[in-house]
Formats: sequence, structure tokens, C-alpha cells
Amino acid sequence: MRTGAASGFAGPVDGPLRDAVEALLDTAQDGVLPIVQSGHPVLRRPAAPYTGQLGDLLPRLVDVMRATMHAAPGVGLAAPQVGIGLALAVVEDAGHDGDPRERHPLPFRVLVNPAYAPVGDRSAPFFEGCLSVDGWHALVARHHGVRLTGQDDAGAPIEEVLTGWPARIVQHETDHLHGVLYVDRAVLRSLVSNANLAALWGGGLEPGRVAEALGFEVPARA
Ligand code: NI
Repeated sequence: MRTGAASGFAGPVDGPLRDAVEALLDTAQDGVLPIVQSGHPVLRRPAAPYTGQLGDLLPRLVDVMRATMHAAPGVGLAAPQVGIGLALAVVEDAGHDGDPRERHPLPFRVLVNPAYAPVGDRSAPFFEGCLSVDGWHALVARHHGVRLTGQDDAGAPIEEVLTGWPARIVQHETDHLHGVLYVDRAVLRSLVSNANLAALWGGGLEPGRVAEALGFEVPARA
């Protein structure tokens, strides 16, 4: 459901923050912003809850975040990754039939103040990367299923159970909003360059094979 109002966010516009974000959006090239790389403090600070600080600028930020995600290309992007410390993220994945990671289609959506809780005790250990840790992948055992809560970009509440790859995407993006990068949860010894992941490991769809060759344990839980 969407609220009929232009914005369901109750808080006031933060003028200086809005102006700063507008100035940042004005620097976008073809609607795309550079992606902040690991080592920048904005990726390590908890994002501020979004309460309406950007007012009517929010749709423009969402458009730029979506274009930036597509250009990367990626399946999720959190606002801190374009230098904005607000609890906003975009996700979208076309999906892939028959993928062992259960890569169900995830239609484009905006996550505002998202949170997740595990559903069941099943673990999904797969390789994962991040646009802010460019060039690398590592094994992360995520919850196979999660209950996602939060709001959409109109301020309407969302509550939904996701499984497989979409569940991983929302865990990854929500973690960003708490200053957590996937490497914090990864088996460090599983670190593989993107080139090696493709050339040696067929994209890493069989983590057990990689684990045996590189000498690490596939963890049971995140
Ligand atoms: Ni990321």
C-alpha cells in the first residue's frame, strides 16, 4: 500500500542537509554518482533514520541512486555509498532461473529505515561482493530467510518475508546503514578477486569446492 499523500514522513525538512544533497546530485554525470570506496568514514557510521529531511528532493536522490546502481552494475546501493548518511537504500535484481543461490527476481524498490530479522535457522553460505569494496568477493553465511521491515519511499510501512538471494541483498544493504560491510561477516580466507572468481570458480556457485581448494571452512551461520 502507498499513502495518498506526497510524503508520509512526519519530520521537518533539514535545509542545510537538503542543500548539501542537492549540490551533490548536481555533480552527477549522466545521472550517476561515484561510489564511495571502503576506508571512507561515511561507510562506517550508522546512517541517520530518514524522517523527511530531504522533502521533495527524495525522488531525485532515488533516481540517481537507481541509475548509479544500474551503471555499476549492482543489485543494491545504500545512500552512504554515494556519501549520504541517511537510512535509505535501493535494490533491484532481474533474477536468474535455476541459480543455486535462489536468485528470485527482486523488483525495484526503495528501502527506508530497513531492518531484518532471521526467519528459520537455515544458513545460506555464498560468495558476495560490494560496490564499495570494488574488485573482490568473499564467502558470507547469510540468513536464508528474513523478515524485512521498514518503510517505502512514500513513508508507508513494509513488512515482508524474503528468501534466497533477495534476502541476502536486503541483509547486505541494511548492514550498510549500520556501518557494516560484508567483509566484517566474511570468511577472510575466502577472499577472491572478481577475475579469479569467474576464471577459476565459475562465479563461486559451489562454495564447498572453493573452500577445499583454498583451505577454509564453510561456516554454518552468519
Ligand atoms: Ni555493498
